[in-house]
Amino acid sequence: MSAFIEAASPHVMTTYGRLPIALSRGQGVWVWDVNGKKYLDGLGGIAVNTVGHNHPRLVPALQDQVAKLIHTSNYYHVPLQEELAARLVERSGMTNVFFCNSGLEANEAALKLARKFGHDKGIENPQIVVYEKAFHGRSIATLSATGNPKIQAGFGPLVEGFIRVPLNDLDALKKATEGNPNVVAVLFETIQGEGGIHQMRWDYLQQVRALCDANDWLMMVDEIQTGFGRTGKWFAHQWAGITPDVMSLAKGLGSGVPIGAVVAGPKAAHIFGPGNHGTTFGGNPLATRAGVETIRIMEEDKLLDNAATVGAHLKAALQRELGSLPGVKDVRGQGLMLGVELDRPCGELIGLAAEAGLLLSVTADSVIRLVPPLILSTAEADQIVALLVPLVKQLLAGSKA
Ligand SMILES: Cc1ncc(COP(=O)(O)O)c(C=O)c1O
Repeated sequence: MSAFIEAASPHVMTTYGRLPIALSRGQGVWVWDVNGKKYLDGLGGIAVNTVGHNHPRLVPALQDQVAKLIHTSNYYHVPLQEELAARLVERSGMTNVFFCNSGLEANEAALKLARKFGHDKGIENPQIVVYEKAFHGRSIATLSATGNPKIQAGFGPLVEGFIRVPLNDLDALKKATEGNPNVVAVLFETIQGEGGIHQMRWDYLQQVRALCDANDWLMMVDEIQTGFGRTGKWFAHQWAGITPDVMSLAKGLGSGVPIGAVVAGPKAAHIFGPGNHGTTFGGNPLATRAGVETIRIMEEDKLLDNAATVGAHLKAALQRELGSLPGVKDVRGQGLMLGVELDRPCGELIGLAAEAGLLLSVTADSVIRLVPPLILSTAEADQIVALLVPLVKQLLAGSKA
């Protein structure tokens, strides 16, 4: 690969403000750029590289699959789809899976399920409850469901049929839907990732479940960022002891091989029939093998426990080192999905941290987000803290709220 890095790419559309870094290889939670500089990966490809880089059991499995069969078509049975679906069903307590290629596609499928659920009941104008600060993707329908005007700006007219409510406020939810026979579903993230690591209270989640049951609404959980062990359980809603009717997955499911999935329980499993939905690539043998092997490695290496333990260690260390500093509003999150909220914008930390050898992101302008691979060790968590803390102190000393 060329070590030449363009400040602005002449041919790739500039949909991202990119750092002047090109990464060329990785090992475990470490990555190297084309100039040989080493970074501790606190971002994991934005909560994607579940088992880290160049995993000694994932790579040969994918190589084996590439040599056997990469893609066929959903015109035929894909046994690996069956295998991965069975594993997702077992771990979620749900019943059926549709495979696609990304998070927004999983949410698009969920939205279509909700609308058809309504139409099948004779509701011509189905409406779906969504949340302030939510992020569900960048297709026209999913950006309409997203609660961030910046993401919607310039793309109107938006898709209709969403009712927006604040997080963790049951009365607001009841008020917004009272006497409305067109409500068919509630869609939410258990911990809002892009919105700034805002957690739904588990008791609120249980109350939403009860409300969905009482009104015959689908409870639809976007676990695209929170799912797949990130919070220390397979799916974050499991902390609340509830089971949704629909769950969207992507990101960590394929450890970096693009894959998305919608998992449905009995209430939503048979809404789609042949011809209602589809995708050329969805659930192809390579992507589904990546999912099967990711689950195998997660279990063999006890990565749920690791995410919980190392995540708690990292959170405690960040709280201890940063929690009482003026300028630090909060240290929050669960497992290896953590946020440090400052009282001021801190986007420049992304570049400063990379210079210091740490990859991370900043969401909602002022929240430092850490979503490293789930293989992170306690010693590596300590290295994240050692790299990050001086940068935060430096930023707080040199800028105003
Ligand atoms: C909660 C959530 N939903 C949906 C998406 C969209 O996923 P994708 O970028 O794969 O389309 C994301 C991506 O960040 C996400 O965090």
